[in-house]
Amino acid sequence: MIGAKLKIALLYDVWNEDPVAAAAKEESAPTPKPRKKSKKIKKEKTDREEIFEALQKLGHEPSYFELDGRPQSLHGLAKCDADLIFNLTESFDGDDTKEMNVVAYLDLLGLRFTGAGPHSIFLAQDKAVAKKIFSFHGIKTPFFATSYRGRIEHAHDISFPLIVKPSWEDGSIGIDAGAVVKNVKEMMERVQYIQDEFDSPALIEEYIEGREIYAGILGSYERTQVLPLVELDLSRLPEGTPRIASYDVKFEKNTEVYKLTKSNIAEDLNEETVKKLSDTALAAYRALKLRDYGRIDMRLAPNGDVYVIEANPNPWLASRQEFAMAAKAAGLSYTEMIGSIIDLAMSRYLNASLTNVAAMH
Ligand SMILES: Nc1ncnc2c1ncn2[C@@H]1O[C@H](COP(=O)(O)OP(=O)(O)OP(=O)(O)O)[C@@H](O)[C@H]1O
Ligand SMILES: [Mg+2]
Repeated sequence: MIGAKLKIALLYDVWNEDPVAAAAKEESAPTPKPRKKSKKIKKEKTDREEIFEALQKLGHEPSYFELDGRPQSLHGLAKCDADLIFNLTESFDGDDTKEMNVVAYLDLLGLRFTGAGPHSIFLAQDKAVAKKIFSFHGIKTPFFATSYRGRIEHAHDISFPLIVKPSWEDGSIGIDAGAVVKNVKEMMERVQYIQDEFDSPALIEEYIEGREIYAGILGSYERTQVLPLVELDLSRLPEGTPRIASYDVKFEKNTEVYKLTKSNIAEDLNEETVKKLSDTALAAYRALKLRDYGRIDMRLAPNGDVYVIEANPNPWLASRQEFAMAAKAAGLSYTEMIGSIIDLAMSRYLNASLTNVAAMH
């Protein structure tokens, strides 16, 4: 089937920012359920459109499928007759803890889809769980504790400076200059802030000073390729601002810190360091059973130690984002990169049906 023209549905999620206001407009609408405050940012639509175009260039037949947070859109999905779903969903109704449920639903429906399965999304999404798995595999990750509604979980002593972040969010939500704390008072305030604002456990983690390196990985199981490493250069951030990829650094184009930071292929790393970073990233990718494509975020400490900060299944695929940048450095055009993801996903399902093994887990 690879090489054949496929009907590919680009599945993505939208949600209403303010359900109360929306209900007020529509008088007949039922009162919306209260929701936790944590809201994902709405990414620019470019990745969706870029992928659509790439699929056309590859000779496929793309279409959009929007999950709008209402059960009706789930009913519609059950009738989807695409050969493959290109999964771009990150939440259901703005709740990103439900990303895994969407994927589990695709699985239940017997639909084929790109990227991580529900189990990997769960393992990666809860950063504390992911870190426990990394430790089992001997993958270095900063020591940490969690705090949620008065319960503290910890295994190691942890020392300041620390970074306090939501354990369940991504997209640097809740990560700003105040996330890096130097004493107990700052830490307690920040833990409280994370709970109040995001209704998420607070992950209290040792802050690792060092270079910010991302490894894009393309492939599944034995067939994996670590793409050239990308560095987000945080060295030009103003004195006194912690060198972290905060929300503003990632998304707020009009801020000073956004303008002062830039991702590039990390070309000045020696061979041994590249190998250490790549091997660590691959180990993390496999530990969480990611597949098709993923991005591992790491810190390279001045003494050469490599720490995994987190693993991202189904990372952002916009052409100017780190994953596409890395693919390009590996010699893949944007269209070829999308083609590889399609091939990887399709070959998984073909292999599964050939060997009569349920889609490999
Ligand atoms: N332990 C740490 N030491 C140093 N910096 C850290 C640490 N944890 C997080 N950071 C900084 O904060 C940024 C965001 O953290 P993290 O990747 O955990 O958040 P995220 O919201 O999941 O991000 P993403 O957008 O990649 O999903 C990191 O890229 C890094 O710059
Ligand atoms: Mg990250």
